Amino acid sequence: MENGRNNSPLAGGDGVTILAIESSCDDTAAAVCRDGRILSNVIANQKVHEKFGGVVPELASRAHMQNIVPVVDTALKTAGCELSSIDAIAFTQAPGLIGSLLVGAQFAKSMALSLDKPLIAVHHMQAHVLANLIAGEKPSFPFLCLTVSGGHTQIVLCESPAKMKVIGETIDDAAGEAFDKSAKLLGLPYPGGPLVDKYAATGDPKRFQFPEPKIDGLNFSFSGLKTSILYFLKNAGTSNVFKEAFAASEETRQQFIDDNLADICASIQNRIISILLNKLKKAAKEYNINQICIAGGVSANTGLRKALKETGEKMGWQTFIPAFEYCTDNAAMIAITAYYKYLEKDFSNLDISPSPRAVWK
Ligand code: KG4
Ligand code: ZN
Repeated sequence: MENGRNNSPLAGGDGVTILAIESSCDDTAAAVCRDGRILSNVIANQKVHEKFGGVVPELASRAHMQNIVPVVDTALKTAGCELSSIDAIAFTQAPGLIGSLLVGAQFAKSMALSLDKPLIAVHHMQAHVLANLIAGEKPSFPFLCLTVSGGHTQIVLCESPAKMKVIGETIDDAAGEAFDKSAKLLGLPYPGGPLVDKYAATGDPKRFQFPEPKIDGLNFSFSGLKTSILYFLKNAGTSNVFKEAFAASEETRQQFIDDNLADICASIQNRIISILLNKLKKAAKEYNINQICIAGGVSANTGLRKALKETGEKMGWQTFIPAFEYCTDNAAMIAITAYYKYLEKDFSNLDISPSPRAVWK
């Protein structure tokens, strides 16, 4: 269990204190914030999925049930909070795996009922965007946010914490899936995104060329990239012009991957980043906005962070990137979103149900 933030001198004093729970996928997380300041941010990652090469929903919900009490307990203790000082309970209501969402939702509802405190339902993708308001220099409204996670790739126009509009999104795979599926083709374990990032650091991003899809408007597509990587690896190590007929043997292919892993990862990463940033440039121009943020698990990618800074300098943008701990799934982002909802008295009834699909546009 990772246990972020330290005890705050604010703990125990006046102010709006919110306990937030995130359980949409395979991380069980809880955080406490007071007046929009994060006092604790605790995550239990589920290792149980590694050997299956992806998240197994049934195992995820079981692991959430085992983790949720110790995670919430640690979040409260780290924040120096008694249950009696909590003003509201927040939870991720959508989107995600239904069995996983249910565990967090039921726990949050039970706490809200027993403590007689308001319940705040939070949309996971809105929370990823608002992770940019947690710490450090904050963007001013309106801003654009490129939200790139394992399930989503969106460009979001944010006019206030509550007023957001998706102006572009993927029509097939998400950016995180593009990383993870590429990694799988290279024989790397799940989730492969961070490993591609690691190997890319020492590779030549121009060595191999993968195509950039031609998609209209501000939407994205990553499925063609996956196919081109598949064929590239199928023929890996062969130089014959009749590549289909002389496709590489398993041994030749593996040798080629082993010898060129850093360059392959750097080239794949380079293409994913260029697809993302070209659309972001288009959106910034179309909406005439120079406050640009990124969010979501893929915003932890070193290459993307660096490329965003460089592009921002060229384009005259002010760029914002959440700290690593607030990029991948976490409950601090749920807490900050809930804080803004609390200020608007945007509370939910106890009969609210979690939803696996995003009902937020
Ligand atoms: O936001 P997130 O933690 O969970 C979802 O809501 O999906 O995003 C997880 C995704 C995974 O696809 C993971 O491989 C990717 O983020 N990811 C990365 C990096 N760290 C996490 N992808 C590329 N480079 C990274 N450093
Ligand atoms: Zn996420």
